[in-house]
Amino acid sequence: MVLGELKKEIKGLLSQKRWEHTLRVVSASFELISCLQIEIEANKVETAALLHDCAKDLPLGEQLKKAGYFGIVLTSSDLLCPKTLHGRVGAGIVQHEFGIVDADIIQAVALHTTGGPRMSPLAKIIFVADYIEPGRSFPGVEKLRLLAKKELNGAVLACMEQTLLYLLQRGDFIHPRMIAARNYILAAEDYTLV
Ligand SMILES: [Fe+2]
Ligand SMILES: [Fe+2]
Repeated sequence: MVLGELKKEIKGLLSQKRWEHTLRVVSASFELISCLQIEIEANKVETAALLHDCAKDLPLGEQLKKAGYFGIVLTSSDLLCPKTLHGRVGAGIVQHEFGIVDADIIQAVALHTTGGPRMSPLAKIIFVADYIEPGRSFPGVEKLRLLAKKELNGAVLACMEQTLLYLLQRGDFIHPRMIAARNYILAAEDYTLV
């Protein structure tokens, strides 16, 4: 599917507010890639960014139904963190409804809510861009934006830490995939490598 058609289809799946967020994630992703001088095909970046929230505006019941159709095995943690579910369900839509086979794009959509071990550079870019796009405003976001232009793994860790602190303060359940993602980056020999 060419990008123009893809854009039209995704726009149809999202609320106006979510569509505007999606476009900001596209531009934030390109900005990060150019600042960090990472080589990823532009088409892949734009496709992943456009699709990342394709399941977000579906009601939870619909997301669960789609997970069933796609054969996505949900864990108890997925069910205890329903806000993260649109990542994996979105990845199912990307594969089964958009017919996309690129593993990096599928992974980037699946992991944009929690992160996960062995994230590709594209998955990290989408994860961070979603967190710091210009529409986001929370204490510390400016600092994250500066860090993200210099160091991708450091930025992924910082975004995760911000989320984890927020969840801890609220006493909320934490998805173990985010802990696994953080541990994976920390355990890497040199986490400053992209
Ligand atoms: Fe999302
Ligand atoms: Fe998003």
